[in-house]
Amino acid sequence: MSWGVFDSGVGGLTVVRALRRRLPGVRLAYLGDTARVPYGIRSVDTVRRYAAEAAAFFRRRDVEGLIVACNTVSAVALDVVEQGFPGPVLDVVRPGVAAALAATRSGRVGVIGTPATIRSDAYGAGLRAARPDAVVVSRACPLFVPLAEEGWVDGEVPRLVARRYLAPLIEAGVDTVVLGCTHYPLLRDVIGETLGPDVRLVDSAEAVADVARGRTTAPATSGGGTEHEHCFVTDAGGAFREVAERFLGAPIGRLEQVELGA
Ligand code: DGL
Repeated sequence: MSWGVFDSGVGGLTVVRALRRRLPGVRLAYLGDTARVPYGIRSVDTVRRYAAEAAAFFRRRDVEGLIVACNTVSAVALDVVEQGFPGPVLDVVRPGVAAALAATRSGRVGVIGTPATIRSDAYGAGLRAARPDAVVVSRACPLFVPLAEEGWVDGEVPRLVARRYLAPLIEAGVDTVVLGCTHYPLLRDVIGETLGPDVRLVDSAEAVADVARGRTTAPATSGGGTEHEHCFVTDAGGAFREVAERFLGAPIGRLEQVELGA
């Protein structure tokens, strides 16, 4: 079984990392739409158009299943991807909701994500549907995405940004916070330090990787190297390779620039 993994930029690498741990050697094709990141500040119509183009890209490639490693696309355009891709499609919102429900004790859950994800209320609706007494406090954190893309994941600047964004969640006394954007696990340490040790962090990338493991039909090939990975970006000029390699802790194999919608 081979998986395509798709995000607007480096964020979906958090899913690749989680997949590598669970399915070493599985064949992966990653697409980061680095020419058009960020998605989360754009209109729903635009995100849906980009999502359709990504689905068409993977339809032409040799992948059997697709992981939408982007909460924004999962929240506002999952139907478009499902219509555009013939195989199984996994999203990050549903596994994130399930993991948050398992983690919370008090039912007071914080959700952080892009403006589009927070506006969609996809997490809030999922949490309240399963647990009607849940109190969901949501906050859009748009600056976390460029910080992750630039690799500014520690130090004073992300700490200040995190303090400002997360204050309402701390005031509300949440016991669990969903990292509802696949870029945010890159800033996990800063987010965790800001929220304090009593707050559990739910990483939707880890949650979807668990689902993918359960859905992977054939055993992975032997070995845990990166020779089974092919990485596509729509703009290879930025810091993608550097951030990717630092984050994944290994060189990325084949990196190729492609055009979507062509
Ligand atoms: N990593 C993405 C997400 O999970 C998108 C970030 C962005 O492009 O704004 O929503």
